[in-house]
Amino acid sequence: MRVSRRALVGGAGAAGLATSLPFRHSIAEPEIKEYRLAASTATVNLTGDGHPDTAVWAYDGTVPGPELRVRQGEPVRFVVGNKLDEDTTVHWHGLRLPNAMDGVPGLTQKPIRPGESCVYEFTPPDAGTFWYHPHADTLQQLGRGLAGALIVEEREPVEVDRDLLWFIEDWRLDDEGRIAGGFGNRMEAGMSGRIGNTVTLNGRVPEAVSVNAGERVRLRVVSAALARIVGLRFEGHKPVVVAYDGQPCDPHPPEGGRLVLGPAMRADLIIDMAGKSGQSYRVIDDFYEDLAYKLVDLAYDGKPARDPRCEPPRLPANPLPELDLAAAVRHEIALQGGMMGGMGGGGMAGGGMMGGMMGGGATWAMNGMSMTGDGQPDMPHLLTLKRGETCVLTLRNETAWWHPMHLHGHSFRVISRNGKARPIREWRDTVLVQPRESVEIAFVADNPGDWMFHCHVTDHQEAGMMSVIRIT
Ligand code: C2O
Ligand code: CU
Repeated sequence: MRVSRRALVGGAGAAGLATSLPFRHSIAEPEIKEYRLAASTATVNLTGDGHPDTAVWAYDGTVPGPELRVRQGEPVRFVVGNKLDEDTTVHWHGLRLPNAMDGVPGLTQKPIRPGESCVYEFTPPDAGTFWYHPHADTLQQLGRGLAGALIVEEREPVEVDRDLLWFIEDWRLDDEGRIAGGFGNRMEAGMSGRIGNTVTLNGRVPEAVSVNAGERVRLRVVSAALARIVGLRFEGHKPVVVAYDGQPCDPHPPEGGRLVLGPAMRADLIIDMAGKSGQSYRVIDDFYEDLAYKLVDLAYDGKPARDPRCEPPRLPANPLPELDLAAAVRHEIALQGGMMGGMGGGGMAGGGMMGGMMGGGATWAMNGMSMTGDGQPDMPHLLTLKRGETCVLTLRNETAWWHPMHLHGHSFRVISRNGKARPIREWRDTVLVQPRESVEIAFVADNPGDWMFHCHVTDHQEAGMMSVIRIT
């Protein structure tokens, strides 16, 4: 016999339970899993023993915040308390949820004031690797440590030996281990954004990750960096990408042998640990060619190898809507502004015209429109779409900088890059657009509401590369 926790907590005696249980069971309301999270200040060690601690802002006092694990198709409730001295919200990045739960201050909810809390409730439709972060004063709140992974588990577990998370954060620390100030520096905002000097994996500058020969690992890589782009090479290994941004794709090796993730992007990899017992293999980040560094070592323990597996598993498909490309509406969005290419070089792209177009301290624009900050009431819409229609968006990057463009509340397929069709047409929620590149994405506007579409280099977002798409 199953005794629900609710009945026990209710304090009914044994006799009462025996008579009421059979009836209660048949009309049981679905049990909602509840989690509590609090944003507050905290002190953590990012750089390792013997190095100074760092004052951060964190969920539940840890960096990253707790790894939230929920089940696909099961309702969840998050009660978020704010113990900071300023307003906050939580955005559940990548989840296809109701607009009112999206966490954009002004646009979808009132900010959570200091001392107050807010209840978020939704049922995640898709299994996969997602994350959560504030959408208020984002540059500072995310940059000071407010972020965590949200893993939606498949209904049937995927067959691997280990499910591993690498949550990447990038910090700018001074010699005493303090987070450097100067968030929102204009010069940086017009270039690559705030790139730090210290990269952590799961909240620590990593030493080595120990692995067993022959084991199969599902590695969930999440980039919660403000601005840094990473390009990971796994020496001596052949990782297979099985999902981007939580959405399964045809298994394939990373393009050019390197996994490139811009801010907010994720990938699930299957890695068969084919190295030799007792040996170490480097994982290198060489996205910025002259700044290549070793992120971490994969260190094999001395145990004998287990038998290798054959085919990498394919993740079960998520219930994504069918695109109707033949009937799609088409729009083009130009990404504009910023300084000219090259560190320390030149003035604004487009000269005086951009200056005239963007008032109010904006550095960036989308189709000549600049929305700054984190979200506001009464934001004008860049586009209005009818519910249910397929939309093909061409993102034309007229700038000299990289932009990871993120659409809230939807996943989209990447259709083409610079006019060349993408063979795998992967689903994503954030697409990294190269300088001067044109990228076509397509999605079904099936989720009504006002949805943010912005660059996830947080400096760029806050300095104007932000917009709203309305779905009626
Ligand atoms: Cu993680 Cu508006 O984004
Ligand atoms: Cu950008």
